[in-house]
Amino acid sequence: MSAAGKESKRVLMVGLLCQDILNLVDHYPTEDEDVRCVNQFWQKGGNAANSACVLSSLGETTEYLGTVSSRAEGSSALKEMQTFGVLTEHVVYSDCPIPTSCVIINTQTGSRTIIHGTRNMAELTAEDFSSLDLTQYRWIHFEGRNTIEVCKMMEIVEDFNKKVVSPDDVITLSTECEKSKYNMGDLFPKVDVLFVSKEYAESCGFASAKETVKKLLKRVKKGCTVLCAWGDQGADGITPEGAHYHCQAFPPEKVVDTLGAGDTFNAAVIWGLCRGTGLEGALRMGCRIAGQKCGQFGYKNLH
Ligand code: ADP
Ligand code: FRU
Repeated sequence: MSAAGKESKRVLMVGLLCQDILNLVDHYPTEDEDVRCVNQFWQKGGNAANSACVLSSLGETTEYLGTVSSRAEGSSALKEMQTFGVLTEHVVYSDCPIPTSCVIINTQTGSRTIIHGTRNMAELTAEDFSSLDLTQYRWIHFEGRNTIEVCKMMEIVEDFNKKVVSPDDVITLSTECEKSKYNMGDLFPKVDVLFVSKEYAESCGFASAKETVKKLLKRVKKGCTVLCAWGDQGADGITPEGAHYHCQAFPPEKVVDTLGAGDTFNAAVIWGLCRGTGLEGALRMGCRIAGQKCGQFGYKNLH
């Protein structure tokens, strides 16, 4: 096993890299309306890709892994991610158009409405994942999608963790249950940190972040921390021992763009937990950086 200390190892974010086309409008359009947007720009998107950029900006050595279009739009999204310092040497290329989201941002409220097209991009497989040298990583976060393959990838990490000699070489596993359409239950017993979105929580019938973390703690493995972000209400977290924390949101002067607020929150929480802030400190870091993100477009200069 690697002799390197935990601090010198990478955080790996596994999941989607896509193209986001942001349309900024001064009011939300009604059906069949013909509107002009006040601005329009393209940026890279995808939960794992967004979180990777934020983590890297915060100073963590971060790698992104996923399938990437080998066409021009794919290279440009990848390059954009690299400008944040994200390492990308293990991505798997596919000759397929880049998955694309058309996003409507209402500049009055900052709300983001996403219409996503996968464009038949293949998902990463456990076979792709199995070629990684896992001694390089301290933490692996899996975006909540492609659950059957992700389950197999987590098993590869679990096997690795069983064999390590030094506790410093154990890889922390996390995932996010974000979209209610994915059945994520099989991943619950595998992770050390579980992020749950408001959408997922509500689809389980939970009415608050507090209720979500308390109820889900009973369904995860021993030793797992559970967090749930709840938009402008901030976020809650619970330690494996059942200590519950709430953190208020940090509202910016004006909310202009909430796209990727959750991805930013996850990244900042992982940063905090890697730096030993404890859950309360990590929640605060998550809400502070996510609040800052909501007050600006894109993910640059978050600190
Ligand atoms: P998602 O992007 O997954 O929908 P959320 O909307 O739950 O994620 O937001 C994640 C975090 O971002 C929240 O916990 C909060 O800290 C911050 N946040 C979201 N919306 C706002 C807002 N309007 N004002 C301030 N902070 C916000
Ligand atoms: C934001 C985001 C966007 C992307 C969409 C995919 O959380 O990652 O960048 O278009 O979600 O669902």
